[in-house]
Amino acid sequence: MSNLDTTGQPPAAHAAVGLAVLFSSAAALGGFLFGYDTAVINGAVGAIRDKYDIGAAATGLTVSLTLLGCAAGAWVAGGIADRLGRIKVMQIAAVLFIVGAFGSAFPFGVVDLTLWRILGGIAVGFASVIAPAYIAEIAPAAIRGRLGSMYQLAIVLGIAISQLMNYAISATAGGARGELLGVEAWQWMLAIEAVPALLYLVMTLTIPESPRHLVRCGREDAARKIIAEIEGGNDEVVAHRIQEIYNTFGAEHVHIGERALFSKSSGVAALVWVGITLAALQQFVGINVIFYYSNTLWQAVGFGEDRSLLISVVSALVNILGTFVAIAVIDRIGRKPLLLIGSVGMAVSLATAAVCFSSATVTTNDIGESVATLSGANGTVALIGANSFVFFFALSWGPVVWVLISEMFPNRARAAAVGVATASNWVANFLVSATFPSLADWNLSVTYAGYAVMALLSIFIVQKFVKETRGRTLEQAG
Ligand code: GLC
Repeated sequence: MSNLDTTGQPPAAHAAVGLAVLFSSAAALGGFLFGYDTAVINGAVGAIRDKYDIGAAATGLTVSLTLLGCAAGAWVAGGIADRLGRIKVMQIAAVLFIVGAFGSAFPFGVVDLTLWRILGGIAVGFASVIAPAYIAEIAPAAIRGRLGSMYQLAIVLGIAISQLMNYAISATAGGARGELLGVEAWQWMLAIEAVPALLYLVMTLTIPESPRHLVRCGREDAARKIIAEIEGGNDEVVAHRIQEIYNTFGAEHVHIGERALFSKSSGVAALVWVGITLAALQQFVGINVIFYYSNTLWQAVGFGEDRSLLISVVSALVNILGTFVAIAVIDRIGRKPLLLIGSVGMAVSLATAAVCFSSATVTTNDIGESVATLSGANGTVALIGANSFVFFFALSWGPVVWVLISEMFPNRARAAAVGVATASNWVANFLVSATFPSLADWNLSVTYAGYAVMALLSIFIVQKFVKETRGRTLEQAG
């Protein structure tokens, strides 16, 4: 058995690795749409507010209700994936993305605009469950961390490209309400998402179903073909892998529903709670405050609008850079050490930003608004603190949480458990995004200190509850 590595798998041949990368990239496009859809609203929201003449609360609702759509989509995605298959979920998501993009770009009013955005949110929820789950199920163990991190890379690219597109469209049209070919710039921003969504749809028509899903449905022959293609190895090795997968489903091959996960008899309840906690903590450190509100944040402490926009672009680039670091090291140093390095780095960076923000001086301008400013050195240090926070998040909690969630559950519970954990991520995202504006108004420094405490807390949670999954097959890891 000299052709087996420590995981009991044949070493992935070059061509096979190429296939795994190709299939994973197609699924990861769902991540690109996730990043694009959630961040695109940044550039459009001002114009929407202006056009429909709505107040701050309604604007906040238009933005944050989308996130609840994401949570709802994530919650049901696992069940649908077990019934109809992983690929079908991607295809439904792609269609919803396209419909949501056009609907929200050409609405009758703000109410149906919000409903279309929620529909798009459901698509994001679907994609955010199915991309990591599918990638984990298709990837050879030795490179599963790297392939899983590609999903996060796609998310961060989606965020960055949406910001650049918004900027380019608005610059060409002369503002977010300027017109191009008779259509306002903000409408273009929302509609253009249909292009990557269409590409996603086309890609999902060409990639194979997850072999683990096929085994569960009793379609071993089809599964055998795909495992042989991706992992290589002779008939005997492949048959052994199929048997291994088969054994993990238990005799009945039943679908474990979302609620059944929490019952004692499921055997995975404790693990599901760990997944829920990790997913929520990924949001409670406040990462999306940077991506959804950075303009407001930096303007609130005295940077001008142009500089704030520039800082947002810099943060998006730092985010991409950190993700590459994670991709390079995740399968070498492992998930747990990466999370711990990230937690410590995030806690120090957030605490630094909190201290700087506490030195802001608030004055009242001519029209009675309070204006905060940071003295030179504090401003620079706060900037470095915030961007080093993004960097540490990007090399750790950003990708690693998605990778872990996709591989920590046994085959029989994966789809539903990934769905539930991901829904928790979206609800936490909603809570942070919905509370940040008022918390920042009240006390920005204390708000950041709160995020720092969450980062500290994460160290203990990881130490106590996270099991390393590096290099193990899904059957050994779950
Ligand atoms: C993770 C988070 C997502 C966030 C992104 C930022 O994917 O789940 O909410 O926007 O990282 O890089």
